[in-house]
Amino acid sequence: MNIAVLSRGESLYSTQSLLKAGLARNHNMEVLDPAQCTLGIEKGKAVLSYYGEIINDLHAVIPRVGASNTFYGSSLVRHFQSMGVFCVVGAEPILQSRNKWTCFQILAKAGIPIPKTILGNAQDIESVLSNFQTLPVIIKLLQGTHGQGVILAETYASALSTIETLKASKVRFVIQEFIAESNGADLRAIVVDGKIVAAMKRQSRAGDFRSNLHRGGTADAITLSHAQENIALRAARALRMGVCGVDILESEKGPMVLEVNSTPGLEGIETTTGIDVATKIINYIERNKQA
Ligand SMILES: Nc1ncnc2c1ncn2[C@@H]1O[C@H](COP(=O)(O)OP(=O)(O)O)[C@@H](O)[C@H]1O
Ligand SMILES: [Mg+2]
Repeated sequence: MNIAVLSRGESLYSTQSLLKAGLARNHNMEVLDPAQCTLGIEKGKAVLSYYGEIINDLHAVIPRVGASNTFYGSSLVRHFQSMGVFCVVGAEPILQSRNKWTCFQILAKAGIPIPKTILGNAQDIESVLSNFQTLPVIIKLLQGTHGQGVILAETYASALSTIETLKASKVRFVIQEFIAESNGADLRAIVVDGKIVAAMKRQSRAGDFRSNLHRGGTADAITLSHAQENIALRAARALRMGVCGVDILESEKGPMVLEVNSTPGLEGIETTTGIDVATKIINYIERNKQA
């Protein structure tokens, strides 16, 4: 099969891992840099060229669309979808998951537990804050990633002043209950084709509450409990993602989903668990093309 990885960086670990896995399975693998793709619609049909050459022989696409590139990246994926190319994650799921509020709405509609969350659009900030009985609260930018854009407001004064600053800067955000009992740890489950293929527990470094590996967190391989597995799989289904990373917090009310990532990093999960996630993704494509 001809399989493309949509990625801005050919040398990135995740891109390399997918290329290696595809080549080992005898596929033709290539990296497409979304910035070099020209999208057009001619005679009502989606047309795509790459460095000036028409692309029309791909069987499958693995989107690795970065957060800074969501609009063009998802537009490119939608183009491939309309050309009949199998994409392991579709354009709409990418867009929906990149907006944390939209993602929470979809998860809640599917009955998946999430921390209490309020969209930060209301004028009356004091009445918004009165929804939270305890401090600290979390304030989260809708488009944040890698832990950048998540704020721990420990006092009423810091919550109020942070919210006023974000509003004045016209930045969109949510306010969320702080799950203190997670103690700076979260779980990352990788779901491929409706199955958990790998999972790890991430712990924040001392002095931080964010467990992202990009923020210096450390990770250990784990086996998920039945309840954790259940909400991870339901979250992947709710967001309609063939491949995703689901972040879960363990709260005193049970596991809660924090977010669903359409482009989960493979380095942390593969090196921590020793599981070849990239090959699982290639196998998913193979099964799908045979179906
Ligand atoms: N409500 C919360 N309570 C406790 N910790 C949180 C909460 N929200 C986020 N965190 C911590 O911050 C990290 C980053 O938050 P997340 O919502 O996943 O944003 P990002 O997209 O930046 O990874 C989480 O992995 C978790 O460790
Ligand atoms: Mg996260």
